[in-house]
Amino acid sequence: MVRKPIFLISFFLFVLFSNSFYGKSSKSAIVIGASSGIGRELAKVLSMEGYAVGIASRKLDKLNSLADEIGEEVFVKQIDISKFDDARERLNELIGQMVKVDLIVINAGFFGQEEPDVSYGKDPLWAVEKRTIDVNVSGFVAMANSVMAYFKEVGHGHLVGVSSVDAVRGICVNPSYSGSKAFISNYMQGLRSQLDQAGIDISITDIRPGYVSTYEPGPEAYWVATAQEVAPQIYDAIAKKKKVAYVTKRWQLIAWLLMIAPDFVYDSLGGF
Ligand SMILES: NC(=O)c1ccc[n+]([C@@H]2O[C@H](COP(=O)([O-])OP(=O)(O)OC[C@H]3O[C@@H](n4cnc5c(N)ncnc54)[C@H](OP(=O)(O)O)[C@@H]3O)[C@@H](O)[C@H]2O)c1
Repeated sequence: MVRKPIFLISFFLFVLFSNSFYGKSSKSAIVIGASSGIGRELAKVLSMEGYAVGIASRKLDKLNSLADEIGEEVFVKQIDISKFDDARERLNELIGQMVKVDLIVINAGFFGQEEPDVSYGKDPLWAVEKRTIDVNVSGFVAMANSVMAYFKEVGHGHLVGVSSVDAVRGICVNPSYSGSKAFISNYMQGLRSQLDQAGIDISITDIRPGYVSTYEPGPEAYWVATAQEVAPQIYDAIAKKKKVAYVTKRWQLIAWLLMIAPDFVYDSLGGF
């Protein structure tokens, strides 16, 4: 008789306590590079799919406007992934604020479409290439490293990296960009294999978009999709825990052509 009210009070406190952490969502995800384009749309899809979402990038005003749009169960963090140590600290703070995180998407990337910081030097090509490597390679690995440490600590998780179809073969319009994406695709494959060998329950998904209209595509662009079209396909690949996913799906065909084309064909066409 005495036990029943104690049980009820404990149950009530448990529900109250857990709701203050997780709200209505039982799943939670972080999108790094969520202020615009693909990452912004993906954060919205994840929220609609019942995830509490952490959104991160450099531009706080854009993140706050996204947080207003999402409405509830959203956590905002300003992170510049090219400031490696600071970014790692901030990511850990965000994870701490969210208490538990099941999925982390590293979407932040640089294609050379915006002016690089003057601190990168006066030579414009070097400035762009250095920045590409700082953001797409070193920044990516700085984040992935922290993500893996966290997932290993909690014993499970899902890391998603946004690479590109350009990872498959070097592109003449931007060799450092395609090189950077090749690095992260290869890196994710290595991580996956390492986890398989160790029997650790962490999934890795390599997302490879084709052209997406988040910037003014050049005259060479074709099959251009919107970020709104691409984000649900990325979500689908995440839900299915795919190892590699091309978005939109037909880019799988181009990837295959890129893989099999002999150098003399590929070089004479300047890519596909
Ligand atoms: N658009 C395409 O055709 C295409 C094709 C293949 C792959 N991708 C890849 O898709 C991803 C998303 O690109 P997008 O097309 O959606 O372009 P986008 O609209 O320019 O989005 C890039 C995102 O990365 C963030 N970001 C950039 N530098 C950052 C840094 N140093 N630290 C933290 N966040 C940073 C930006 O936020 P802040 O400016 O607020 O920092 C923004 O949220 C990129 O990895 C890109 O390489 C795009």
